[in-house]
Amino acid sequence: MSTPENSAAVSPVAKPDEWTVQRILEWTTNHLTQHGSESPRLDAEILLAHSRGCARIELYTRFAEVLTDEERATMRELVKRRAKAEPVAYLVGHKEFYNLSFQVTADVLIPRPDTETLVMETLSHLGDQAESTILEIGTGSGCIPITLAKRHSSVRITSVDISEAASDVAKSNAETHEVADRIDFQIGDLFSPLESGTQFDLIVSNPPYIKEDDIAELDPDVRLHEPHLALNGGADGLDVIRRLIETAPQWLKPGGWLLFEIGEDEGNACRELFTANGSYTNIQIIKDLNKHDRVAKAQLA
Ligand SMILES: C[S@@+](CC[C@H](N)C(=O)[O-])C[C@H]1O[C@@H](n2cnc3c(N)ncnc32)[C@H](O)[C@@H]1O
Repeated sequence: MSTPENSAAVSPVAKPDEWTVQRILEWTTNHLTQHGSESPRLDAEILLAHSRGCARIELYTRFAEVLTDEERATMRELVKRRAKAEPVAYLVGHKEFYNLSFQVTADVLIPRPDTETLVMETLSHLGDQAESTILEIGTGSGCIPITLAKRHSSVRITSVDISEAASDVAKSNAETHEVADRIDFQIGDLFSPLESGTQFDLIVSNPPYIKEDDIAELDPDVRLHEPHLALNGGADGLDVIRRLIETAPQWLKPGGWLLFEIGEDEGNACRELFTANGSYTNIQIIKDLNKHDRVAKAQLA
């Protein structure tokens, strides 16, 4: 990393050419701003805390400390990669979701705060029901089934993903969070790995739902680095959603619920798909905290 041109706020104890915590944060923030990051200061803090093996808050009590050569080398590599739009979560290898930390790799979608709406909605359906059975489709990092299992001690979950690599990450997360004994991870296309005749109280999914043509317009962080298998919902974004609505009734117990995440402009289309199918009642579109349509749900009639 080259010497910063603007080193105005150097600690009084550091020599002008020394890389203190404060100087490296300032330089990195400036560098990532120039490379298009929307949260350059936050990125700089997370990457530096990771390079030093400390909590972010500790950076603030150690502004004047000089980085070791090893810390600087690690930070230099991470900043280079971040400048090429690699998401911070992949660089540090984890992401928070619903107050839990999940290991993430480039094989899985980075869990989004939007998806917490789907988890909250699902939990509200579980209530005190003993021994509910849940089918989750599109495991990814495992953030949905693992959070449900952590929050509800008696649920049993089957979780399916078409990507074996994603399923491996989810299994590892389930072990970390000590719920692996209550989640059966399966690999395959939607319902295909399930034993015929199985029926669930709830089916929940965060499916790929981005319109294929819109993928080119996504931020480079997402477009260049996150798995397109997790994003691409086909021409109108509804390819997987259509199949979920059509096939879920045969895997639900009578009165069971299907809930899934949707794009903010997909609420009306999903309501129409549920209605046209004829097997569902209580069709609802739920908004997220930003007041965008985010979850579609309906009950098997
Ligand atoms: C939007 S991501 C959701 C990941 C995770 N549940 C989350 O909320 O962060 C969709 C996931 O569905 C998986 N997927 C895509 N098509 C699938 C299919 N036909 N059958 C099963 N899983 C599929 C992808 O591999 C990806 O992990």
